[in-house]
Parts: sequence; C-alpha cells; structure tokens
Amino acid sequence: MNRHAKIAALAAVGLALSACSAPAPDTSWAPPEWPTPTLTVTTIPAHLDADAFSALPAFRIRNDDVGVQARWIELPGRAAFDSKVTEIVRASIDARVSAGGVAYAPAVSPPGSGLADRGCISGSTNRTASDILADPLLGPKDGAGVAVVCDIVVATGPYLGQRIRAVSSDSTDTTVVVYANTSTGEAATADELWAHHALVTLHGEIVNLLRRDTDSLGVSVQSPDDAGRALMSAALAQTIVTPDGTLVVPVAAGFTSPELRSLGITPTTERLIIGVPAGLAANLLTPLGADLLSVATRAGQFTPPATTPAGRDPVDCTLVPCVALTYDDGPSEFTPGILDELAKRHGSATFFITGERARFNVELLKRTLDEGHLVENHTFSHPDLAQLSSARVAAEIEETNAAILAATGVPARVFRPPYGEYNDMVLQTAGMAAILWDVDSLDYAKVSDHAVLSRAVDLPRPGSIVLQHDIHPNTARTAGAVYDGLLDRGFVLVNLEQLFNGELPTSGVIRRLP
Ligand code: NI
Repeated sequence: MNRHAKIAALAAVGLALSACSAPAPDTSWAPPEWPTPTLTVTTIPAHLDADAFSALPAFRIRNDDVGVQARWIELPGRAAFDSKVTEIVRASIDARVSAGGVAYAPAVSPPGSGLADRGCISGSTNRTASDILADPLLGPKDGAGVAVVCDIVVATGPYLGQRIRAVSSDSTDTTVVVYANTSTGEAATADELWAHHALVTLHGEIVNLLRRDTDSLGVSVQSPDDAGRALMSAALAQTIVTPDGTLVVPVAAGFTSPELRSLGITPTTERLIIGVPAGLAANLLTPLGADLLSVATRAGQFTPPATTPAGRDPVDCTLVPCVALTYDDGPSEFTPGILDELAKRHGSATFFITGERARFNVELLKRTLDEGHLVENHTFSHPDLAQLSSARVAAEIEETNAAILAATGVPARVFRPPYGEYNDMVLQTAGMAAILWDVDSLDYAKVSDHAVLSRAVDLPRPGSIVLQHDIHPNTARTAGAVYDGLLDRGFVLVNLEQLFNGELPTSGVIRRLP
C-alpha cells in the first residue's frame, strides 16, 4: 500500500465509525505524517574575492622534486590558525614524500618564475581536480603530485574561514575549512564547530531526508557505520556558516546506511549539499560554533586582525624557502628608503649597526625595530677585531650593545665582526654568536647596479644570509628590485630570528641556516 492509499483506507475506517456512533466524527485526526523536514538541500555558497584580503600574509611553495605546489594565507600574529592551515599543507607534502621517497626541503625557482604571486586564487577550490592539477599556477610540475589551493569562504565580524583543498594525482582529494576568531586568536577546523553528538544526529537526519519518499516511516534510524562516520566527518570539516544562519555541509557521493539499503535506496551518486537550519544547529554546536553562527547572522562587517610587522610573525623556514637579508655599517640616510621598500613587500631584515652611528640615529633605529626588523651589533668603530686586545674587543662590543639598548630599548643578541674577521679570543670576548654570510652582494665594491642585483637575487639558496650595506646609494637604489627578484623566485624575506625559528644562536660562527 502506498502512502496515499493508506491515508484513503484510514479515512474510510473513520467514515464507517461515524455511521454508527453519535457525536460527529473527530475530523482533527490525521494519519501519522513525516515531520517537517529538518534539513534542506542547497548549494555551496559563493567564495569571497581573494583580492579583498590582500593585506593578509600570503604564501606559495613549489617543489618540483617532491611534486608539490601549495597556496594559503595566514593571519598576522595568529599562530593557532596558521598552524592548523600549515598542518594541512604539511600532511599533503608528507603523503607525497612517503609515496615517492624524495625528502622535502624548501625549494626556490629560477628568476622569472612568477612566484611573487601568492595566496588564494579566487574560486580555485571549486574547480575540478584535473583542472587544478593541470594549472601551472596551482598544480605540481607536469600535473604529477599534490596541489594545495585555498579560498576565503567566510569573513564576518572577527571570523575568517579559509577553505583548503588538497588534490593529488593519486586521486586523493580532501577539503577542510579552517576558521579563526581574529580578536581572540582562537582557531578551529570546521568539524570542531560541531559538538560530539552532531555527527550521529545529522547522519540520521540525512537518512530521513533520503527515505522521505518511501513508505518507511516506521523504520528506526541506526547509528552510522564506520564508512558513514568517515563520510560525515569529512563533510562536517567543510561546514560553511552563512549569513541566514544555515550551516552548509557538503556530503560526498556514496552516502548510504543499513536502513537505506534495506529499503532498496542506492548510495548517493553525487555530492549532496545539506543545509542545517540555525534552529536544529543550535543544539549541535560547540560554544565556538554557536558564537560564529550568531556573529554570522548579525551580518557584521569583517574586522581584519590588527596588523603585525612581518618580522614579528614566526616563519617556518623548514616549510617555506627563507632568505635573510642583512645590512651592515648603518644606519645612514639610505636606511629609510630601504625600510620603505621592505614595508611595501611585507619583508623583514637584520641591521648590523655601528655604535658610533647609533648615537646620531636614535629615531631611525626605533623605526627599524618598530617595523619588525632586528638591530644587532657591528662594533662601535668598525675595526678588525682579530687585531685588537681582548679589552678593546670587549669595549667595542659593550659600547655598541649599550647604544642599541639606549636607542631601541631592546638588547642586541648577535654580532657581526667587521670584514668577517675573528678568532677564538674575539668570539669568547664578544660572548655572542658571530653571524657571517654565504652570499656577498659586493654592493661596497663599486660594481654596477646590475651586478649587485644579479648577485643578490640569483645566488641565495633557501636559508642563505645575504650581505649588503645600507650606507651605499646603489644598495638603496637596487633594494626594491632585489626584493622583487627574491620574491619572484619564491623566497620569504626574513630576519635572522625568523630564519632560526625564533631561537637566535647564542654562540659560534654562523654562515647560513644549517
Ligand atoms: Ni662592516
């Protein structure tokens, strides 16, 4: 008996009863009906325009040996969000490494590679897997390997949501939305917006949705099996919170359950985009999820996070290719222009200054520090320390440390011996690590601008320390072009603290990141 026939038969029974009994029939009686649907079938909300978020730190890595290209954005000073995002990038690389046996190390590309274009390409997470893999802006070399792409999908009040999709030529395809509260620093992957019982509840609601058109109201819904749980947990990890309060959950094809199978309903063959209305979601969200939902429905303007100088944000130089530019012998009238060029590109550098110049440039040193760069010790009067007594070495170092502390309020932590000259006595007396360099730009050697530029751009490898001097006009003149050239090769411009993962060396002689 189908549903309509059953209703007709029940109505006939009602009529029969009314014929032989005095008060009028109770016409309010109705046969059991399906409850109002709790879920809707909807579409994926549009991604946001990535250009609107161009102030956020944007990354892109490419390693042709391992076969990986990845793009993502981070938030200034928000380590929790950044690590959740980079964990996904790392996991994709690790899978590739264990499949191919080639170890990962950050790599750079030849000049002209265009890798200064970083961060999300709008709409890339919605493209087909083969399209992503084949696109040179997104995919690995020759389409063989893994591509990690991103879209900004939510930006409301303090909340930002970044969808990250990792697609590989081995047919794996995983999408996760990572949320951040930019004012508290909290971060969560989308599955963490849902309370523990949400998975089973929503699974049951989807089963009900799929069997509504069958005559199966009496069949009770069981808990999902392992495959059902895996499908649901992958779906919840992609939840998008929309301004009307609906939580959109894309459930991959293949959804089924024992009761659907028993009803002869075949597994879904296409992605099913489920809308969970706010009313149902209310009982299923964690406090963070509930807060995000309530903010989203107030349609608040996105509040971008407070800006942090690029030099203060940790950079993982084992994931991205880093280069540490260093400027010696200043500060001078050329230093402000160099700082301007660094700021335009969200780059950071290290300035090894002399104590005798510090006294006349207090404001400039303050600015250098405030903009996130490091101010370190290059002695007081720039002598060859190896030729001095230990007492004079001590005076050169200590007077400069005092000048740096007086100007910036922050003590110097490393030094650079003038001319790169040192011996054991110098190292012991200085009591700090001596930072040398592995790339000399020759900016002091009266070579052409072209020569400085090509040395500073072409020679660095990931982890290099580059020697320049902010007392020469050619150094200032070529600064912007040097940064652009390095960014184009894929480098991130870091200071020495970032190069050493937040832990500046305390002793010994350093020429580059080991
Ligand atoms: Ni010098």
